[in-house]
Amino acid sequence: MKEKVAGLFQDRFGEPAVIVRSPGRINLIGEHTDYNLGFVLPAAVDKAIYIAIGKRSDEEIHLYAGDLDESFSASLHDLKPTTRQWPNYLLGVADQLKKNGYTLAGFNAVVIGDVPLGAGLSSSAAVECATLFAMNELWSLGLERLSMVKMAQKAEHEFAGVKCGIMDQFASMFGQKDKVIRLDCRSLEYAYIPFSMEGIRIVLFDTGVKHSLASSAYNKRREECETGVALIQQKFPAVKSLRDATIEMVEACLAGHDVTVYHRCKYMVEEIERLQKACVRLEQGDMAGFGEYMFATHDGLSRLYEVSCRELDVLASLAKECEGVLGARMMGGGFGGCTINIVQENKVEETVAFIAEQYAKIFEKRPQHYVVAIDNGTSLQ
Ligand code: GLA
Repeated sequence: MKEKVAGLFQDRFGEPAVIVRSPGRINLIGEHTDYNLGFVLPAAVDKAIYIAIGKRSDEEIHLYAGDLDESFSASLHDLKPTTRQWPNYLLGVADQLKKNGYTLAGFNAVVIGDVPLGAGLSSSAAVECATLFAMNELWSLGLERLSMVKMAQKAEHEFAGVKCGIMDQFASMFGQKDKVIRLDCRSLEYAYIPFSMEGIRIVLFDTGVKHSLASSAYNKRREECETGVALIQQKFPAVKSLRDATIEMVEACLAGHDVTVYHRCKYMVEEIERLQKACVRLEQGDMAGFGEYMFATHDGLSRLYEVSCRELDVLASLAKECEGVLGARMMGGGFGGCTINIVQENKVEETVAFIAEQYAKIFEKRPQHYVVAIDNGTSLQ
């Protein structure tokens, strides 16, 4: 990949000054909890975005997306979101750097990758983190990883229009091989938990479904949670986010009112607690116990948080039928994308065959699947 991106850059712009790799992410449990200031349990994977970048002598930005064979140019003085999606991730971070007072100049960049797009593996965060990291190197800006994470998240808010939490950018930037990150999204304290792949594999099944309203539905969930917090605050003023709420508070303040808000908040408070219990199982090496919580998360995401879709529900319930699957659930923002499955190593083949065949009977199409390993975060190549 490194050679490929360097070659593509060379063909267009000459020698690249900097090459950076930034990975996609998985999340074991703790879904939609990040913007409610709960915990998440993501990890970076062995599928990544590569960016090659070099300075220009003018104030222009020339971009090339190798996998799409598409080019885009803009002026550094006129950074604004475009109707084409992919340039926004690069322009968005350039804009953040400018807004934070960094002096930039024109640059050329080429991006390629093998993170499946729109599959819930956060290819967008990987592009943002890769771009920021590369710019930081190119102009020796001296940025810390955490500042880059925050700027990348802001870029997603302002240029992609998704009011995302911090998980994806954090996981891409801070990932470590064979470890999951237990991130407290309120304090931003984090710990690495070793994730042993002995006897198990992480398998993702991709529905191929890309919901066109996913970003507006995502933002809506965020608003519904905020509405819940405002209602809970009337009785319990100390509650600043759903992280501070208990299930008793949700029952006392929200049950019998707006059923949607009640369901969203109930899922959220349960999920924040579920993650804690799941982590205990993980630390005990009890993957079957951990997996049970994953199934429960799927159920909540589907019934209460309503961010699943039929294809994801079918994949999760087919997984439940498989003896070799310890846990499975939809992953990421939802409305399409992948399920994540913890599968016994010696059962991977039969599990994939069974799920793909049964899925194809219903949807007339076999789902793609990816066996992923946990890998390091953003790095200079
Ligand atoms: C998307 C967002 C994240 C997070 C997940 C759901 O991936 O970018 O911030 O909210 O959805 O857990």
